[in-house]
Amino acid sequence: MRTLIANGTVVNADGSTQADVLVDGETIALVGSSLGAAGVTADRTIDAAGKYVIPGAIDVHTHFDMPFGGTMSKDTFETGTRAAAFGGTTTILDFAIQPKGGSLRAGIDEWHAKAEGSCAIDYGFHMIVSDVTDAVLEEMDRVVAEGIPEFKLFTAYPGVLYSDDGAIFRAMQRTVDNGGLIMMHAENGIAIDVVANQNAESGRTDPYWHGVSRYPVFEGEATDRVIRLAEAAGSAVYVVHLSSRDALDAVRAGRDRGTPVYAETCPQYLFLSLDDLGNGFEGSKFVCSPPLRPKDHWPELWKGLQADDLQIVSTDHCPFDFHGQKEMGRGDFRKIPNGLPAVEDRLDLVHDGGVVGGHISRERWIEVCSAAPARMFGMAGRKGVVAAGADADLVIYDPNRRHTISAATHHMNVDYSCYEGRTVQGGSDVVLSRGRVIIENGRYTGSKGDGRFLRRPPTGAALRAGIA
Ligand code: URP
Ligand code: ZN
Ligand code: ZN
Repeated sequence: MRTLIANGTVVNADGSTQADVLVDGETIALVGSSLGAAGVTADRTIDAAGKYVIPGAIDVHTHFDMPFGGTMSKDTFETGTRAAAFGGTTTILDFAIQPKGGSLRAGIDEWHAKAEGSCAIDYGFHMIVSDVTDAVLEEMDRVVAEGIPEFKLFTAYPGVLYSDDGAIFRAMQRTVDNGGLIMMHAENGIAIDVVANQNAESGRTDPYWHGVSRYPVFEGEATDRVIRLAEAAGSAVYVVHLSSRDALDAVRAGRDRGTPVYAETCPQYLFLSLDDLGNGFEGSKFVCSPPLRPKDHWPELWKGLQADDLQIVSTDHCPFDFHGQKEMGRGDFRKIPNGLPAVEDRLDLVHDGGVVGGHISRERWIEVCSAAPARMFGMAGRKGVVAAGADADLVIYDPNRRHTISAATHHMNVDYSCYEGRTVQGGSDVVLSRGRVIIENGRYTGSKGDGRFLRRPPTGAALRAGIA
């Protein structure tokens, strides 16, 4: 099957050009001007006049079908990857979890069972390590060799996923040898729990107090600490879901010292704020960790994205229904499951708020949503670029179409939207996953199980060498 995408503006991270794109089977065969006039034939031609032709977006931080906070995140791999596709995302990297006291192997097997045969788009895994033991350190080498090169550790969530500094340091040391990469959830969970307990025990139990208890300085301190630990270990480190200027300052300082520290932020930290947590129990819809910050953190995060101190915008998609799930924390914000839905909205939110809003160029939008994720997470050449030889993961994107985000129309399996009623400019018209049209005319045209598992090379070794 050959598909010619004609008359569009191809937008890559390194520049934009008027060009046609020929897809042959699963890959991009040619990118060039006036291919039709030059005699190139195809089974199907899609007119992309007035539209962008962009590489499918890549979301390196999702939690599908995850046990957390006493319940399960609502999107399965089937519903979550389909929703992602509607939003122009054609690759996700999800976090497999080591069961407490169990092996990494058990977590990986469980995640393969959840994902295999269910995904609409290509997918890979990182690994959440909940228990750093000698056996787990050894297992990490095999997991890297299996194409799952990243390990997420937490300075947050004491008693659940928390690792102490020694455990983090040992895991970082291990990645120097096995080429893996440590991803850090960096908040000082021990100090946070002190403040959260003081607030809750004083009757300050509304969701708002979740946000207030998790001071920005607790994120800044933990971020600086994990960067220092990486420096001592000689490893790279990737800071996930960075939310505050305090944490960004720590990343900037580390990068200024020449440390291979990288970081992502998420749409919720660019477009939502502590105010959203303040509307009585409605605020539970916005409970995530790190929490939403006061609005004056937003300009700093945009500066971070402009200056490449932040390389990626991912979602940390972790949806829980308001009814029945977020409601578990009525009367005690500590019991509200942490996480927000966003996998479907990221590309449009960053286009609307970032490009239309004048913070970043359209090329930088592609960089932070697609090209950098591909490069930094071992998919360079294959994903994140519209170029001959790459997988034909493509989006025909209308930069002018406006639509209003709503739970009534979104495809994520969750009963509310954090962006309910927000009108955004830009939307994915046609989405191709390895050459197959999977979204067209607002409908899903793919099949469950089309998505393939991506084995990826050791990403920590590349980042230490400064590849990104
Ligand atoms: O609130 C969040 N972020 N939930 C998902 C788990 C995590 O820490 O990434
Ligand atoms: Zn986290
Ligand atoms: Zn997460």
